[in-house]
Amino acid sequence: MANVTRKIGLSLGADTCWPICFEELVKDLDLKLPIGNNTVSFEIERVTIEPFALRQPVKYDLVVDRLTHWYHTSREWIKKAVVLNDVYVFNNPWSVQSNEKHTTYAAMMRLGMPIPTTWLVPPKSYEEKPDLQTTLTRYAKLFDLPAVGAQVGYPLFMKPFDGGGWVGVSKVDNEKELVEAYDRSGKLIMHLQKGVLPHEHFCRCIGLGPQTRIIRYDPSAPLHQRYLNDEGYLPEETLSVLRDITLTINSFFGWDFNSCEALYADGIWHPIDFANPCPDSQVTSLHRHFPWLVKAKLRWSLYVAATKKRMRVNQDWQPYFEIAAKDLSYKDKLAGYAKIARERMEAERFEEFCATHLSHLDEVAWNFFGSERAKVAVRKKVEALFPKHEWDSFTEHFWNEIQIWRANDRAERDAAAASAAAKPAAKKKSSSGKKA
Ligand SMILES: Nc1ncnc2c1ncn2[C@@H]1O[C@H](COP(=O)(O)OP(=O)(O)OP(=O)(O)O)[C@@H](O)[C@H]1O
Ligand SMILES: [Mg+2]
Repeated sequence: MANVTRKIGLSLGADTCWPICFEELVKDLDLKLPIGNNTVSFEIERVTIEPFALRQPVKYDLVVDRLTHWYHTSREWIKKAVVLNDVYVFNNPWSVQSNEKHTTYAAMMRLGMPIPTTWLVPPKSYEEKPDLQTTLTRYAKLFDLPAVGAQVGYPLFMKPFDGGGWVGVSKVDNEKELVEAYDRSGKLIMHLQKGVLPHEHFCRCIGLGPQTRIIRYDPSAPLHQRYLNDEGYLPEETLSVLRDITLTINSFFGWDFNSCEALYADGIWHPIDFANPCPDSQVTSLHRHFPWLVKAKLRWSLYVAATKKRMRVNQDWQPYFEIAAKDLSYKDKLAGYAKIARERMEAERFEEFCATHLSHLDEVAWNFFGSERAKVAVRKKVEALFPKHEWDSFTEHFWNEIQIWRANDRAERDAAAASAAAKPAAKKKSSSGKKA
């Protein structure tokens, strides 16, 4: 058996809390996995920014990227690392670069998802360019904005075609507000999207490889309270549809890590924002859900690095389009897309890997999230985000949330262990009953 080390690079910007937890958990797990003829261990390193020769080798097996959607030196380094050095990167940088909200709406419309009616309108004003006036004079048609608004219907949302972080988003209730919002929109290219209002539920579904977590979301709450804590508010069948939607989107675009925002109205999920390939990962927004995210990211990273999963560089949309073209119900199509997603994400092999090699992760993480090291990670993030006079109170607030997660997690795992222990006994009883 040879000893091999898999290197995982973290390509980071302002991320503070999850990388600390990720690094500490890898240390605590102290893995030496028997895989094939090798004993595999792991090293985590933060990727630095520096000049690089295109032919220079890359030391990482996997890069977890949180930076390149806006920092393009690193994006080009990562693209070279995939093309020349066969590195696995999540998320696929070409897909992040090119598939903005607009393309994702169009593609998921083709797959039959109930995306609300959406129009794109040319911008109100422009950056001067040498050919601009000639082009606009020749080809830009004067358009009747209220007529477009009437086709979409009110209330509608005006939002950038490639947006994120609520920038430039307005709810528009009538023609007058539409004209005012457009006049304010400047150089942004805007969508007008029919509002799914009222809706019964607003959820975000985070996907990490084949793992998902659905969290109810309140966009009107302060940032640290938007992810809600309640569970059991929707039947499993409804939740599994949202899981399948998320896995479909993520596998379609090559996003190992993404979140899908969907509104539930009239008995159906309407996905409205699902091009988020650098989703919320901070304890200050995820609070009680934060340990799930760290564990899920860790599992998927270790799986990809340990098994040398090959990155799907080309997105290969044809198999989804073939299902879309069939004479099937939406439910059956979605099941077909989700099957492709689970295959591409190697869901079964991943589960087996976790059961074989990471069965102690839950306990290790439970201990870690009660430790001073975890509290330091929380505090560092709080100090980066909140004014000084709130550091103590917010550190305690998020720390308490994590301790509530620990109590729940312990109770759930104890209950699962008790039910697993009871099963063989029940079986025995019934089989002996049968014999009698
Ligand atoms: N079609 C819609 N129907 C109902 N509400 C909507 C719709 N589109 C957007 N919204 C509301 O506006 C908010 C922002 O829109 P959206 O999520 O598309 O933009 P964003 O800039 O990506 O925001 P974020 O990055 O916070 O998710 C949504 O969270 C939702 O509350
Ligand atoms: Mg959103």
